[in-house]
Amino acid sequence: MPVITEIADLKRIYKRRVPKMFYDYAESGSWTEQTFRENTSDFDQIRLRQRIAVDMAGRSTKTEMIGEEVSMPVSLAPVGLTGMQSADGEIKAARAAEKFGVPFCLSTMSICSIEDVAKHTSRPFWFQVYTLKDDDFMQRLFERARAAGCSAIVITVDLQVLGQRHKDLKNGLSAPPKLTPASMMNMMTKVPWGLEMLGTKRRFFGNIVGHAKGVTDPSSLSSWTAEAFDPSLDWDRIKTLMDMWGGKVVLKGILDVEDAKKAAELGADAIVVSNHGGRQLDGALSSIRMLEPIVKAVGDKTEVWFDSGIRSGQDVLKAVALGAKGTMSGRAWVYGLGAMGEKGVTAALEVIRKELDTSMALCGHRDIRDVNRDILLVPRNFSGDWD
Ligand SMILES: Cc1cc2nc3c(=O)[nH]c(=O)nc-3n(C[C@H](O)[C@H](O)[C@H](O)COP(=O)(O)O)c2cc1C
Repeated sequence: MPVITEIADLKRIYKRRVPKMFYDYAESGSWTEQTFRENTSDFDQIRLRQRIAVDMAGRSTKTEMIGEEVSMPVSLAPVGLTGMQSADGEIKAARAAEKFGVPFCLSTMSICSIEDVAKHTSRPFWFQVYTLKDDDFMQRLFERARAAGCSAIVITVDLQVLGQRHKDLKNGLSAPPKLTPASMMNMMTKVPWGLEMLGTKRRFFGNIVGHAKGVTDPSSLSSWTAEAFDPSLDWDRIKTLMDMWGGKVVLKGILDVEDAKKAAELGADAIVVSNHGGRQLDGALSSIRMLEPIVKAVGDKTEVWFDSGIRSGQDVLKAVALGAKGTMSGRAWVYGLGAMGEKGVTAALEVIRKELDTSMALCGHRDIRDVNRDILLVPRNFSGDWD
């Protein structure tokens, strides 16, 4: 097993192992990718304040997210198509998360179904839904999530229409991959990946095919996706979906103070300050710049979580210090999954926890729940003075 010391190690192995179409799918943002790039580069502008001669023994990164104990304030963000990054990828990731003591959130657009993941895990996981027009299908999804024991749903509110990612169009992204001369040439260089894929039956969108009307043929899925998302989504519809579920709800994809206030008013158990990893509105501010204003506005009314751009434990520490009660990480665990399956997801979580724990100690704290903004040096006007 190669020595993994940082998330970038996993990304390098991932790139070698997985077909280009799926690597590109994860490693891209929309349009010019400005927001995708700034999600990570803006983290670098915030510095940590080194403290000395503080007792650093007996440290803990344990805390809670929506009342659930977590071994660190990190959860696995919902990521579509992960069963294409590694065979049965969602099951592998959910198992790694469970063993590590962090929450796993399954995407609607997963390859393994809700039932599949439930069968292979024992800790309740979260289920992410998009806001779709078809009420019957939404009802059934919620019923299936309830039957599988999901402890919360995450409603993604920043994808009524899809931000274009050029590479997906150029690569002809599909699941399973379409066999074109270019994709076949590339897949011939990914033999271990291909052999694993041949060994599983899970190669289609498991939550949709056979469940959504008119999708008995998986090749009709892309048109279903375009037709099924609800472009007329408004706050009333979000409230209806929250009531339809009736349990804990996280609203994911909030990047504006006014939207955060509205989400808190509706009674969301948590909101995720997120720009979908730079995959939706290119030109939006990085997520980390918007975190503090949103915490100030609604941090006493709902749990504010953070995602988009986390590539290290230091990033998690900075988000927590700016007021996030929890975080979600997307690409960091996908790199691990693509590189080494379940072991790779565990490796990604280990890297993040070690970095988080050591950095927290060097900032003079022993308990993640005590970390606050005092440990940061934030450039003046970091969140911007925009008109
Ligand atoms: C390949 C990929 C697929 C994604 N699929 C979904 C999805 O199905 N549902 C969703 O709510 N968010 C999805 N996201 C967004 C993530 O949940 C999360 O917001 C984002 O990855 C966070 O940014 P990070 O990758 O920089 O950590 C996806 C992200 C990536 C990279």
